[in-house]
Amino acid sequence: MTILHIDSSVMGENSVTRIISQSAVDQLKATRPGGTVVRRDLATDPIPHFTPEAFADSTVVDEFLAAEVVVIGAPMYNFGIASQLKAWIDRIAVAGKTFRYTEQGPEGLAGGKKVVIASARGGFYGPDTAMAAFDHQENYLRNVFGFLGVTDVTFVRAEGVAMGPDARDAAVETAKAEALKLAA
Ligand SMILES: Cc1cc2nc3c(=O)[nH]c(=O)nc-3n(C[C@H](O)[C@H](O)[C@H](O)COP(=O)(O)O)c2cc1C
Repeated sequence: MTILHIDSSVMGENSVTRIISQSAVDQLKATRPGGTVVRRDLATDPIPHFTPEAFADSTVVDEFLAAEVVVIGAPMYNFGIASQLKAWIDRIAVAGKTFRYTEQGPEGLAGGKKVVIASARGGFYGPDTAMAAFDHQENYLRNVFGFLGVTDVTFVRAEGVAMGPDARDAAVETAKAEALKLAA
């Protein structure tokens, strides 16, 4: 059993998503003894922007396909995901490998995987908030993984982290408690 652990925050030790993704990986490891963790840090070891030459390199998509569980630290930056994470998604959405078009429409080929998104954002973007339409981070990730055939997508979220230190700490504790509920 392989867990692919990805981070994309540029905030180093102050990163909320790194705390959450590590909690999620620790919990998933505990429920899967003997599993191995493959680490990919997109901030310290970035994948370059997509280029025509990059088509030939299948390392990143093969690593994604080989993992049973994928944990992704995904901060909201300017209402979307970090560009480092977008560069990774550009490598895993590969026609013929992770999706294909049929006469009935698109078909995801990467099903059977569990994806856990460690999400953090400064404000609040729930469906009942005025900012809901600005959420191009979680909605985007849910749609991308759905398109690739992944139906088991769980969000472990810290919201409102920019509302002061107390709010940040409370949001992190809530997310860590949510991570403890991750099991099979
Ligand atoms: C470059 C940048 C852009 C951000 N843009 C947004 C934003 O559009 N909306 C928001 O609610 N918070 C925004 N934030 C706040 C982050 O989402 C928040 O600090 C979160 O903790 C980031 O995750 P991290 O701590 O793992 O980096 C931004 C932060 C940075 C550094």
